[in-house]
Amino acid sequence: MLRRRPFGHGSSLTRPVVTAALPASQLLLTAMFTDLHQLSHHHAWRRQLELLLESTGEGIYGIDLGGRCIFINQIGAEMLGFSPDEVLGRNMHYLMHHSHADSRLMPVHDCRIFRAFQQGQGVRVDDEVLWRRDGTAFEAEYASYPIRDGGKVVGAVVTFNDISTRKCAERALQEAHNELERRVAQRTADLSAANEQLRQSHVALQRLSSHLNTVREEERRSVARDIHDELGASLTALQLELNWLQRRLASEPPLQTKLDGMVEITQAAMGAVRRILTDLRPGVLDHLGLWAALEWLLQDFQSRSALQCRYDCAAALERCRLGRDAEIAVYRIAQEVLTNVSRHAQASSVELSAHAEAQDLLIAIRDDGRGMQVPAQPSSFGLLGMRERARALGGELRIDSQPGAGTRVTLRLRNVLALQEVPA
Ligand SMILES: Nc1ncnc2c1ncn2[C@@H]1O[C@H](COP(=O)(O)OP(=O)(O)O)[C@@H](O)[C@H]1O
Ligand SMILES: [Mg+2]
Repeated sequence: MLRRRPFGHGSSLTRPVVTAALPASQLLLTAMFTDLHQLSHHHAWRRQLELLLESTGEGIYGIDLGGRCIFINQIGAEMLGFSPDEVLGRNMHYLMHHSHADSRLMPVHDCRIFRAFQQGQGVRVDDEVLWRRDGTAFEAEYASYPIRDGGKVVGAVVTFNDISTRKCAERALQEAHNELERRVAQRTADLSAANEQLRQSHVALQRLSSHLNTVREEERRSVARDIHDELGASLTALQLELNWLQRRLASEPPLQTKLDGMVEITQAAMGAVRRILTDLRPGVLDHLGLWAALEWLLQDFQSRSALQCRYDCAAALERCRLGRDAEIAVYRIAQEVLTNVSRHAQASSVELSAHAEAQDLLIAIRDDGRGMQVPAQPSSFGLLGMRERARALGGELRIDSQPGAGTRVTLRLRNVLALQEVPA
């Protein structure tokens, strides 16, 4: 049942001036309000209005300029814990809008309902609470629009709703969202930290691998020196002694035969020592440089494997020196590539070529063997070792191969020719 107080005391309210875009219920209310004396003669119409106001599901009340309630629907009063009669005539601000959610008082001049209708404006608010009779509050959404009489504001009509369930769901959603963001941020931070650790250990491993290569080369060099100085010298002395004996025992054929055998064994031992020394530290690399060492390596490979070998180095490059460590690294890579050719390729020919591309040096070794499926990330030590050596030189190693289509391994050393006098 709509409760109302006489409003305007017989004022001549005939032409309602209604704010554009008002909800239907408020349009009706405003019409009802302004034409009240006419409507009172129109019982059926008034009944319709009452039904409508009681059926909206929203709280609806009207106030005069002093903020006193002049009507309120049943559901509105119930939301506040009152009956409609108990609310009529009460100042609505002090009744249900007196404090903020944190209980701080809200002075009436801060009340947006009052401010808005005193300025002749509408307002829609959904971030405040309304207070019940029992002192509890609920989160509310309300809209207040001025009621005008010929341009003069005479009151306001307010619709309001309890939106605590919706706000609660919104908060839960926001919390879930925040929690998700927090977890994503945490996970991202964890992943970045793990990535950084991985990167650091990768760098450390690369440095370790490069250091181990250097140490290994040093050790090989020192073992080679010892073998050369001690074993080599002893074998040479032994051979000289045997030669002397051979001359002395020339007249004793059985001993001579024995001695010939001993000389042969000594020569074989010297050949073996030379091979071991070359493997440990190719003297030609130290004495004649990388290009001569590579050519010698290929010749030696040809004589050992009976494969057709071709060496093709641009003449201009032959003056180019890379420094001791780089040259031994390139030599070891070539050595490993050739070992792979002999072990896996079943090739009939191999070609080693070197040429310049701008400031880069490219050394390629190609075989015409059975080829392979190139692994995206090599895990076997031969290919890995070559990659690491290339990387330590600031270069890169590329393997092009297909099963049945041979293999090409290309080492690119970037910018090494920048300081060399090599015509393009
Ligand atoms: N020139 C080649 N032709 C065919 N297959 C090759 C060649 N080089 C390497 N491979 C393949 O790549 C694999 C990995 O080589 P590598 O890392 O040097 O290991 P390993 O020689 O000890 O087997 C070899 O086992 C072989 O299957
Ligand atoms: Mg290998």
